[in-house]
Amino acid sequence: MNPLIYAHRGASAYAPENTMSAFHEAARRYADGIELDVQMTKDGAIVVMHDEDVSRTTNSQGLVREKTLKEIKELDAGGWYSRLYVGEKVPTLEEVLTFLQGNSLRLNIEIKTCSAWYDKELTRRTVSLVQQSGIKDRVIFSSFEHRSLLDAKELDDTIPCGLLYVGNLIHPGRYAKAVGAEYIHPCWDNLDRQGVEDCRENGIEIHPWTINDPTSRDAMLAFECEHLITNYPDILYR
Ligand code: G3P
Ligand code: CA
Repeated sequence: MNPLIYAHRGASAYAPENTMSAFHEAARRYADGIELDVQMTKDGAIVVMHDEDVSRTTNSQGLVREKTLKEIKELDAGGWYSRLYVGEKVPTLEEVLTFLQGNSLRLNIEIKTCSAWYDKELTRRTVSLVQQSGIKDRVIFSSFEHRSLLDAKELDDTIPCGLLYVGNLIHPGRYAKAVGAEYIHPCWDNLDRQGVEDCRENGIEIHPWTINDPTSRDAMLAFECEHLITNYPDILYR
C-alpha cells in the first residue's frame, strides 16, 4: 500500500513554512495531509509556528509566549521567504482547522513543548480546538515532549499520537506501546530493520521525516512506512 504523504510545515519547499499559503500549496500539490507546529501566546491563543522565537520566520524578534495574539497577527510571516509573500500572517490553529473543514486533508499537529517550557495548557487548548472542529477524525498529534502526548491522551484518548524522536531506539515499538502511542515519528535515518520489525510486532505505525529526496524515499518505502513527511509533497507523490 502507498504511504500517505504529509506536507511538512505545509508544502514548505514552495511557500513560507506554517502559513496558509503553504497549506494551500499542500492541497494543490496532492498531499494527503499537512504537518504543522503549535505554540501558545501570552494570552492563550494557539498559533502555528515552529520556533519559540519569532525572529527566523517573521520581521520581528521575541518569544511567542511573551506576545499577545494581536501582536503576533501584526507580524509579517512571508517576507523572509520571498517578496511574493510579504503580508502573509501567522495563522491560528483555529484558522487552519476552518480551512480543513473545506477539504479532505489530514492534519498532524506537532505540540511544541520540547524544551524547558513544558506546558500542559498548550496541549489542553489544542485538544479542545480539535474537539470543536468537526474534523477530529482526521487529526493526529505528535511531539518530541512525550509527556505532552500523555497529556493529550488523558484529555481525549481517541486522538492518535506519534512519538517524535532523534536517535536510535532499541525497541521503538515496545516503547510506543508502553506509553500508549499509536505511532513513532522518527528522523528517517534513525530507522533500521530491527526497529521496523519491533514496531510491526507491537502494532505501531511508522511515520518518518523529513523525506525530501529519492534516497530517503526509497529506504522508507522498503520499510512500508504508513506516512511520509516531506517538504515536497508533489515530488514524492507517485
Ligand atoms: O514532524 C516531523 C518534524 O516536523 C519534526 O521536526 O523540527 O521540523 O518540527 P521539526
Ligand atoms: Ca514539526
